[in-house]
Amino acid sequence: MFDFSTTLGSSRFDNPILTASGCAGSGKELSQFFPLASLGGIVTKSIMLKPRSGRATPRMAETPSGMLNSIGLQGPGIDLFLENDIPWLQTQGVRIVISIAGETVEDYAVLARKVRGVSGVAALEVNISCPNVENRGQVFACHPETARAAIEAVRRNVGGDFPIIAKLSPDVTDIAGIATEVVSAGADGLALINTVLGMVIDTSTMRPKLAGKTGGLSGPAIRPVAVRAIYQVHQALPHVSILGMGGVSNGQDALQLILAGASAVSVGTATFGNPLAAVTIKSELEAILINKGFNSTAEAVGYAHRAD
Ligand code: FUM
Repeated sequence: MFDFSTTLGSSRFDNPILTASGCAGSGKELSQFFPLASLGGIVTKSIMLKPRSGRATPRMAETPSGMLNSIGLQGPGIDLFLENDIPWLQTQGVRIVISIAGETVEDYAVLARKVRGVSGVAALEVNISCPNVENRGQVFACHPETARAAIEAVRRNVGGDFPIIAKLSPDVTDIAGIATEVVSAGADGLALINTVLGMVIDTSTMRPKLAGKTGGLSGPAIRPVAVRAIYQVHQALPHVSILGMGGVSNGQDALQLILAGASAVSVGTATFGNPLAAVTIKSELEAILINKGFNSTAEAVGYAHRAD
């Protein structure tokens, strides 16, 4: 009997396919297409302390095999989110991963305290890597000291056994070094990777296409970057669970991330073209794993690291 379940830190998921933060809101829109509980879990859009309208428009641009976004963490703020979105999600029978993002270390501490009392949350994704912020100093994941400070603040305030997944940026020279830092600061798992900082210039206006000028590149164009980052981090920290993401569009793509070292895979940009992408990828991945002779998802995690 094939065991499709997986774990991230101490949290168990029935299957390894989740949504990616920012690509499915809090799941309401997707729920008209399939039962959310058929996925391993829903990762909600990163929520901040205060309501936020995000960056000026235009804030999306198509790119070859991908897209650029500069949403700027639009959202209702943690209080309305916990009042409206979470109670609804709790009725859906799906595993919930709440994603938080802060502008300061203190923001992360306050957000963690607010999430601490919420029942039925499988894990907390701590987004320290959003590229669409006013200054690069706020991309906590780009420096070991700031990455550590944010995760330590969350760990201190959320409590000892609440699973924390730190979301890292690929825009660093040593992602395994940053991963090591946040794990020693209290993260149980890692979300790899956030989008890659990019820019598109409109050749008719001869100006940047996005009002925010830069944006985060996602989609199949960044998949090799994700596979590389996951592979490097799994090599350095083989016992730390990884939630992999980056341009996964089919079961074979998901398999690549798992073989590199991811225990679960988030589907993001593919959902914009096909709302059923995550469920289709889940079925494809299960069939491929069985076909290759694996008895469980766990057996395939990090398989690409094995010597022949
Ligand atoms: O701009 C945004 O809301 C994106 C967030 C992220 O990539 O973490």
